[in-house]
Amino acid sequence: TDIVSFVRALPKAELHLHIEGTLEPEMTFALAAKHGIQLPYANVAALRSAYNFSNLQSFLDIYYQGVQVLIDADDFFQLTYAYLQHAHADGVIHVEIFFDPQSHLERGIPLSVVFEGINRALAKGEAELGITYRVIPCFLRHLSEEAAMQTLEALLPYREYFCAVGLDSSENGHPPSKFSNVFARVRAEGFLTVAHAGEEGPPSYIWEALDDLKVSRIDHGVGCEADEKLCQRLAQERMPLTVCPVSNIKLAVFDRMESHNLKRLLQRGLCVTVSSDDPAYFGGYALDNLLAVQQALDLTRDDMMTLARNSIEASFLSETDKQGWQ
Ligand code: HPA
Ligand code: ZN
Repeated sequence: TDIVSFVRALPKAELHLHIEGTLEPEMTFALAAKHGIQLPYANVAALRSAYNFSNLQSFLDIYYQGVQVLIDADDFFQLTYAYLQHAHADGVIHVEIFFDPQSHLERGIPLSVVFEGINRALAKGEAELGITYRVIPCFLRHLSEEAAMQTLEALLPYREYFCAVGLDSSENGHPPSKFSNVFARVRAEGFLTVAHAGEEGPPSYIWEALDDLKVSRIDHGVGCEADEKLCQRLAQERMPLTVCPVSNIKLAVFDRMESHNLKRLLQRGLCVTVSSDDPAYFGGYALDNLLAVQQALDLTRDDMMTLARNSIEASFLSETDKQGWQ
């Protein structure tokens, strides 16, 4: 069989996916019309052509602008279900989706609305597409630890809807250690933790995510390569990295896919997984990301099976559910 069908057929989990980053320009315009919101772009093509980023911050500015059209539970439902259809077409069998509660709370959208819409779509996706799921709210690291603590308080009434808490947004200048206290509280409440680290930031941020936040996975983590001892530890602990290759090129973390370090990390025995991050903004869903690294780095079918297997291993599925996919 051809490589596309081969990779599509591998059972795989998507573990690094911001649901707000799946907002396609067509839906942005449809929701803006529905709610009578005026967008600063003439049409879909003009908005799409603004998706031209030089680094993480230039992307975040447009991404936080996009979320303004998400108002009611049906909007969050539509957004999430459209994503699940893409994931299903790519052979994704399990998703763990991030969302940014603070982006919605600050606009006066209650968490009940966000959880209702997202969860209705995820339940329908499990019933109709067979995709299992987890939800992971993330704190915005450019805001204060106190703001994160208030967000945690607001989240706790919805505790049955999420299994872990993450950390995202502008990395440089906002080390994981800034959030040590709130993440201690997150863990004391019984949740797992993850954090973006080593996307643009230094290896020390990955150390802090491990030692201060006690994460179960590192989101991105590609910056680990500059620190030999760190790489050894990540390999030894089989600490998963949720690597997002197309995102890394669009945000200029690597200049081209051929220079991405995914293959080297894989060959060093790290638990590398592949995800799409913000597919509507970067122009690639799960399968596009896997095929992009396969081609640029000349990965074998064995390598592709390893990436897919790693994604199941690194997921927050129960051990029994994981074994069902081996
Ligand atoms: N990095 C940090 N914050 C984000 C990202 C990312 O790739 N996507 C959405 N929020
Ligand atoms: Zn991300």
